[in-house]
Amino acid sequence: MIRSVVRGFGAALPKRVVPNIELEGMVQTSDEWIVQRTGIKQRYIAGESETTASLGAAAAEAALANAGLTAADIDVVICATSTPDNTFPATAVNIQNRIGMHHGFGFDVQAVCSGFIYAISTADLYIRGGMAKRVLVIGSETFSRILDWNDRTTCVLFGDGAGAIVLEASEGEGKTSDRGILTCHLRSDGAHREKLYVDGGPSTTGTVGHLRMEGREVFKHAVGMITDVIEAAFEATGTTADDIDWLVPHQANKRIIDGSAKKLGIAEEKVVITVDKHGNTSAASIPLALATAAGDGRIKKGDLVMLEAMGGGFTWGSVLLRW
Ligand code: ACO
Repeated sequence: MIRSVVRGFGAALPKRVVPNIELEGMVQTSDEWIVQRTGIKQRYIAGESETTASLGAAAAEAALANAGLTAADIDVVICATSTPDNTFPATAVNIQNRIGMHHGFGFDVQAVCSGFIYAISTADLYIRGGMAKRVLVIGSETFSRILDWNDRTTCVLFGDGAGAIVLEASEGEGKTSDRGILTCHLRSDGAHREKLYVDGGPSTTGTVGHLRMEGREVFKHAVGMITDVIEAAFEATGTTADDIDWLVPHQANKRIIDGSAKKLGIAEEKVVITVDKHGNTSAASIPLALATAAGDGRIKKGDLVMLEAMGGGFTWGSVLLRW
């Protein structure tokens, strides 16, 4: 039985760090309000020459180096993003060119904050279906470019960055103790559009638009949706909260993360938190958190890792994997 195993990971952040205090000069807010309501202390903001594709390519190169591979070893590039360099070509194809890969194929996946979960599950199907041996899965965003910098209810929450993993086909017996992706669960429901959306686009306004959000409404739905997909993963694999070594959640808000972990009975010390340093980087937040916790030695080979995300659409999903 073929499984998709994580062979390497990498990340890339813009050069400029923006601490909360810097935002106090732009909108009516305070470091205290932002930390207390969200857990965010700083975020990285892309400069003019830093784009979703350039950050994504840097993360991809880092993941390839970590895996001991080159672009020649990759069959498919999938990039999860809602902030592409251009409407087309796809950012994944742009990244493919930047890393010197002129074979195979690439495409983007757009599921906002759940994008990386959707991209992993897509890559897993290509690998298990035998169409690809190795897939580079990237989450890269420059949300700073779609923020309304006069809207204090949204502009303090987001940041820019990219993360990537290399997934590789591995033959095994299909046991829960074997390394690789064990199960993926995806959901979406367009009835929630008004709670989190971008008020522009090529086919409506002909502009890029700005992110709009009813934060309290998003908050109200988040914990229930996250626990729904995590419980689905437990049920599909016969595992429980006690079996989890690491919960690596989408990093939107520390209160949402704490609330979900508590409801599921996952101990605080098993939860990877990077929202304090990165803010909400949408589809990039999970691979950035994975690269942080695997890079500093917390996540080790053989650990059972639960990934989850919820975001605009609404979309939500989980991936349970043995690292
Ligand atoms: N600084 C200071 N005050 C602010 C700010 C700010 N940046 N933003 C809003 N306020 C004010 C509001 O105007 C309001 O003032 P009022 O009482 O005079 O009207 C007050 O603070 C409270 O506002 P609420 O919206 O009720 O604050 P809440 O505790 O809900 O926190 C927040 C807001 C942080 C947005 C929260 O609702 C949240 O995190 N929601 C989830 C949204 C999210 O994380 N989205 C990310 C994308 S989706 C995803 O990734 C899951």
